[in-house]
Amino acid sequence: MTDEVSFLLNGVPVRVSDQPATRTLLDWLRDDRGLTGTKEGCNEGDCGACTVVVTDADGSRAVNGCILFLPQLNGKAVRTVEGLSGPDGEMHPVQAAMVDHHGSQCGFCTPGIVASLAAAHTNGETAFDDVLAGNLCRCTGYAPIIRAAEAAASEPVPDWMQTDRAAVTALDAAPLPFAPSSSDDLATWYAANPDATLIAGATDVGLWVTKMLRDLAPVAFLGGCADLKTISADAAGLHVGAMVTLADLLPAIAPRHPSFAEMLRRFASTQVRNAATIGGNIANGSPIGDAPPALIALGAELHLRKGDTSRTIPLESFFLDYGKQDRASGEFVEGITIPAQADRLRCYKLSKRFDQDISAVCGCLSVTVENGTVTGAKLAYGGMAGTPKRAANAETVLIGQPWTETTVRDAMAAYGQDFTPLTDMRASAAYRLETAANMLLRYFHEDQGVASNVLEVSA
Ligand SMILES: Cc1cc2nc3c(=O)[nH]c(=O)nc-3n(C[C@H](O)[C@H](O)[C@H](O)COP(=O)(O)OP(=O)(O)OC[C@H]3O[C@@H](n4cnc5c(N)ncnc54)[C@H](O)[C@@H]3O)c2cc1C
Ligand code: FES
Ligand code: FES
Repeated sequence: MTDEVSFLLNGVPVRVSDQPATRTLLDWLRDDRGLTGTKEGCNEGDCGACTVVVTDADGSRAVNGCILFLPQLNGKAVRTVEGLSGPDGEMHPVQAAMVDHHGSQCGFCTPGIVASLAAAHTNGETAFDDVLAGNLCRCTGYAPIIRAAEAAASEPVPDWMQTDRAAVTALDAAPLPFAPSSSDDLATWYAANPDATLIAGATDVGLWVTKMLRDLAPVAFLGGCADLKTISADAAGLHVGAMVTLADLLPAIAPRHPSFAEMLRRFASTQVRNAATIGGNIANGSPIGDAPPALIALGAELHLRKGDTSRTIPLESFFLDYGKQDRASGEFVEGITIPAQADRLRCYKLSKRFDQDISAVCGCLSVTVENGTVTGAKLAYGGMAGTPKRAANAETVLIGQPWTETTVRDAMAAYGQDFTPLTDMRASAAYRLETAANMLLRYFHEDQGVASNVLEVSA
């Protein structure tokens, strides 16, 4: 094992040593390599100015360099805006199209936009509103940028953009001492280092470094634990490893619970979803994380492991109090199981901005009805308490009653007993309480086939 991180930088192998484990790619590129094309806007994953293209054996994706630590690149390839043009200076098709369609004015956002579009171009993705939701442009406006993206879409992927995937398999990258390669390795290492910080996608942890200036040592990077990255399905349900990214989870969820998938589409941005994991979204214990309410409404189980001991608990019992989870020292999240079930789930994410925003209230509701009578109800919310929490009183009002608007309005009246939300910068307590209850009414109307007039906007 070595402390040396090996990866391809714009097609050229590099070995980086003597760097703190939490040095960000963005800082290293700009300060040590003089590659200042990649910009720093927010340094917290919001603006996309720092977007780079990362490739491994699984493919290429856009990620934010400002919250990507150098060891996360070991054995991979990264292309910055300087590496998107060809060996003889030929412009990448998206670069040429951005020029032709006047897609850049001040240009600060342009390197990140071009990197996002180049990753999408490589993958044949054409949902450009989603591709660009994590790239903030303040002066050009998106219409010319989208026109450029559409124009470039029919151009072939340049040869130089196709070499990284094969080249990474030939990279002789030695494993890092703080990067376990399996769940077993992680269990052994974490049991011996229970005070360490586990780093999955670093979309939360990255900010602890860039914004809170925290020293996280010792750390372990979980990106090499291949057995934590699997998704499988059987009669019991869908089994999802902790290291599955939200980008990879989305297509597995879509055929089973489309409303959950739609909420995942609005989870942060493409760049964040490409790095962020489901294990991190649960383990961080956030009361405003989007996946936990949906998973609780689906009755998901959480698999935890400490050393050789594994245990499974209902996900909802993991969240004990604000900042407190049912996770022992040295114990980690291995994965979740979502029980197989008929889809009754609807997810309503309320945020100030439609894309790339944290929820003010996130309601995930699943009500089962047999012969006109409510037989089951799971009304799970984020943003309403110090933990993700079910509206237990409202559920009790519903169960056993006829599935009618009168019953629904009775249940809505019980929300005041279930929640005493906070007022903060995202929403007032009164707004949260009213909108959370209204989500149940919306669920009812949609279930009756009444078109909802809540606008799901798109560009
Ligand atoms: C710009 C931006 C937008 C965002 N938008 C949203 C959003 O819309 N909705 C939302 O819910 N979140 C959002 N987030 C928060 C974040 O992306 C998610 O919480 C994400 O799922 C965290 O996953 P990660 O893999 O990056 O975790 P990390 O940052 O690597 O880790 C998070 C925490 O979990 C711990 N951890 C990670 N994996 C494990 C494991 N297997 N076992 C035990 N502990 C573990 C870490 O030690 C750390 O405490 C956003 C973040 C950013 C930067
Ligand atoms: S600098 Fe804003 S997302 Fe990285
Ligand atoms: S061109 Fe100025 S911010 Fe996009």
